[in-house]
Amino acid sequence: MTGGKLYGVGVGPGAPDLMTLRAVRVLQQVDVIAIPRRSEFDRSVAWSIAEPSVGEVPGQERLFLQFPMTKDPDRLRPAWDVAFAAIGERLTAGQSVAFITEGDPFVYSTFIYLFSEAPSRWPEVPIEIVPGLSSISAVAASIMVPLADGRERIAILPATYGTEDLKRVLAEFDTVLLMKVSSVMPEVVKVLEEMELIDRALYVSKATTREEKIVRDLRTIRNDRCDYFSMVVVSRKDRNGFLQGRGS
Ligand SMILES: C[S@@+](CC[C@H](N)C(=O)[O-])C[C@H]1O[C@@H](n2cnc3c(N)ncnc32)[C@H](O)[C@@H]1O
Repeated sequence: MTGGKLYGVGVGPGAPDLMTLRAVRVLQQVDVIAIPRRSEFDRSVAWSIAEPSVGEVPGQERLFLQFPMTKDPDRLRPAWDVAFAAIGERLTAGQSVAFITEGDPFVYSTFIYLFSEAPSRWPEVPIEIVPGLSSISAVAASIMVPLADGRERIAILPATYGTEDLKRVLAEFDTVLLMKVSSVMPEVVKVLEEMELIDRALYVSKATTREEKIVRDLRTIRNDRCDYFSMVVVSRKDRNGFLQGRGS
């Protein structure tokens, strides 16, 4: 076991064999694995990805931490304070703590809050990031649509924060990835239809897992069936017909 260090560890987009060797090694070496989940009744997606590869590690603590799914700082702050206190207690006792995240720890991840506050809370504690395969790359591979080549440009947007600037972004970029799209699908479909890009868009949920789903006609998606782990990819170029369904 190593001592007094904080790790942010990405465990990949869903398929356990898309975890990196480094992630597995670090998770088997640390004293504590900090595991975020939405509530005490919820399973952690990140842990369900990592657990088969990490297995049982004698003496290791699995520290489950609750983070409600909300943007409301009045609900988030207290949850963070409890989590920081639990993590801080272990770090200051000289233990190594790995906070796991689905995908990559630096892409829209809960770990970023911890990373931002860690240096002021625990100035002596070193931090290491173990990158993970982000859902961004995973989704592109699942739908067989290259994201960018040569001079092409990619935009990545968190769709939950509104679609006001979506038209501008769609006009400016060659490939647009809409993350956290599940709650705003009707608005997204409307904009894509208006811009005549609806046939250049794909919806992908739970990419790389056994439940992966690809929808080519976004108009058929029922809003109540949208999964949180879903993304819409809009690509101006259909290189070899994969966007239209070749090979599916
Ligand atoms: C909180 S962000 C986490 C992103 C993660 N850190 C990463 O690097 O992929 C959650 C969003 O990522 C996207 N996402 C994550 N995993 C996915 C998957 N397996 N398939 C499709 N989208 C996924 C969805 O848009 C989801 O709403």
